[in-house]
Amino acid sequence: MSLLPPTLLLPQQTISKTGAALGLTQSAAAFGLKGMVVHGQSLQRSGMLEAILADPPADMTLRTWCHAGGEPTVGQVDALRAELRANRPDWVAAVGGGSVIDLAKAAAGLVDAPERTAHYQTHGAAIPSAALPLIAVPSTAGTGSEATVVAVLTDPERNFKQSIRHPSYMPKLVILDPALLKGCPPSTIATAGLDAFIQAFESYTSRHATPFTRALSELALARISRALLPLYQGSGDAASDMLEASYLAGLAFSHARLGLIHGLAHPLGARFHAAHGLVCARCLPAALTFNRPVIRQDLDDLKARHGLDVEAQVAAWLDAMTLDNPFAGQRVADRDALIRETLASGSTAANPRPVTADDVDAILDAILA
Ligand SMILES: [Fe+2]
Repeated sequence: MSLLPPTLLLPQQTISKTGAALGLTQSAAAFGLKGMVVHGQSLQRSGMLEAILADPPADMTLRTWCHAGGEPTVGQVDALRAELRANRPDWVAAVGGGSVIDLAKAAAGLVDAPERTAHYQTHGAAIPSAALPLIAVPSTAGTGSEATVVAVLTDPERNFKQSIRHPSYMPKLVILDPALLKGCPPSTIATAGLDAFIQAFESYTSRHATPFTRALSELALARISRALLPLYQGSGDAASDMLEASYLAGLAFSHARLGLIHGLAHPLGARFHAAHGLVCARCLPAALTFNRPVIRQDLDDLKARHGLDVEAQVAAWLDAMTLDNPFAGQRVADRDALIRETLASGSTAANPRPVTADDVDAILDAILA
């Protein structure tokens, strides 16, 4: 077995240091003097955006774009693409959570593409190469989007959630600054952290995992299992651990892909509008029961090397971080479509155990019970 993925795609540069976000514009000057900074509302409210943009290099011109919030929609990507075409920056920086990074990644990637974003979100449509370099500065520790070639987009009109990916979407520069996590609401720390943990776990057991990606996944699993609850409880020291671990989990799954939990989480998330990490966590027990016959050794290894019981750990977090079950007693009106979307997902295709429509049907019964 090859140690490496068939193609290894990493950010050109990653800076991991408290306060590093304040050097964003200085670092970005390497890509040109005309920049677009995409951000969320909380960054503006906290005054952090102003601090980051306070002292740009001479002759640098900056524009900003505030993401309205929520998971990025194909319409929001179209709007930002139009802005980028009109003003043509040399680089795009995303400072925010996974939604902000995915929005900027998709818009910078598709800026010159001829079709509307929804066209590329549909299966089979070829994605053109990214036209603008992306700088990613995460302000939550979870999605790992700063270290992936993937942008997850929703289409509310079609109740459809599907990622687009291209090798050129890997950010050129990543800044991991734990100071940005200050003020992150506990509920976001909880759901983002669950996402990071489950991404680390699914990339660890994926059928496309390699020794290289498994090492990254395992580092992330061990670190998140120690750091998530302290960060939720307000320990600033855990912020750096969670940021670095989410980044490693992102690198791992960008190469190894994920599994059935993410295959289910996208169509379920598009219908129930619950936080992605929570949806993943609620799908985990049933998916784990299904996969256990083929991943027993992996589970034993994590227990032996890190004292980590994956199912018990997630259950303990759901309890300690008081996260409700968005699925209890719910019904899915279009169950056949949901099953089709789960089976069509690249995540499901990477699941360690092959999945049939009957399997998904039975697992949905368990999740919605
Ligand atoms: Fe995820």
